[in-house]
Amino acid sequence: MRKILLISGMAFLALQCNKKEETTTAAAVEEVPVQTEINVDSLKAYADETKKTLVKTLTQEIEEGGAEAAVTFCKTEAGPLVKSVADKHGLEIKRVTDKPRNQNNLANEPELRIIEKYKQELLEGKTLQATTTDSHYYEPLVTNALCMQCHGEKGKNIAPGTAGKIAELYPEDKAFGYRENEVRGLIRIARSK
Ligand code: HEC
Repeated sequence: MRKILLISGMAFLALQCNKKEETTTAAAVEEVPVQTEINVDSLKAYADETKKTLVKTLTQEIEEGGAEAAVTFCKTEAGPLVKSVADKHGLEIKRVTDKPRNQNNLANEPELRIIEKYKQELLEGKTLQATTTDSHYYEPLVTNALCMQCHGEKGKNIAPGTAGKIAELYPEDKAFGYRENEVRGLIRIARSK
């Protein structure tokens, strides 16, 4: 009997401890300036909107003028398209990667670690989830068939004309050699306005 009492006493204490921890965390979260912080569901919706806008416009461009012409389109319009979604909601949105085509899109150290984490998770067959840091919200950008004609293997998926155009516009290009279902980079949204 004494033993049971002792055990239930310990369980009670453990529960209390958990409770205490919860309140501490909640208090800590409240100390962050919340009034300008965007909730994660909205961030997810903004990331979706950005991806959809890019893929839809890119698909149209390729259908109309082919991949080679769409390279020029990507150079001049991908940035402004992302910015148009960002401006509409008063946000900062950017695409970053470990293997940039446009050097301005090179990921920083913590972002490179997030990319590595996603690559590992993909290898393990996990479903990739968004990552939130104190300052930013990240979602992985994973390649599919559409991406291959500009980010796939040269001489295999990338047609010679397209490869030539890419080389002309991006002499330091590193964004090729991908296969489908690989981590191409991240979409990054600042968490506060
Ligand atoms: C028609 C060619 C083309 C296709 C198709 C294409 N891209 Fe790109 N991609 C580019 C070009 C050109 C850039 C550089 C844009 C710039 O200068 O900002 C780029 C840049 C990017 C970037 C920004 C990082 C960097 O390397 O500069 C990401 C991320 C990206 N592409 C992902 C994708 C994904 C994912 C797909 C498939 C859904 C895809 N791209 C399809 C041509 C293409």
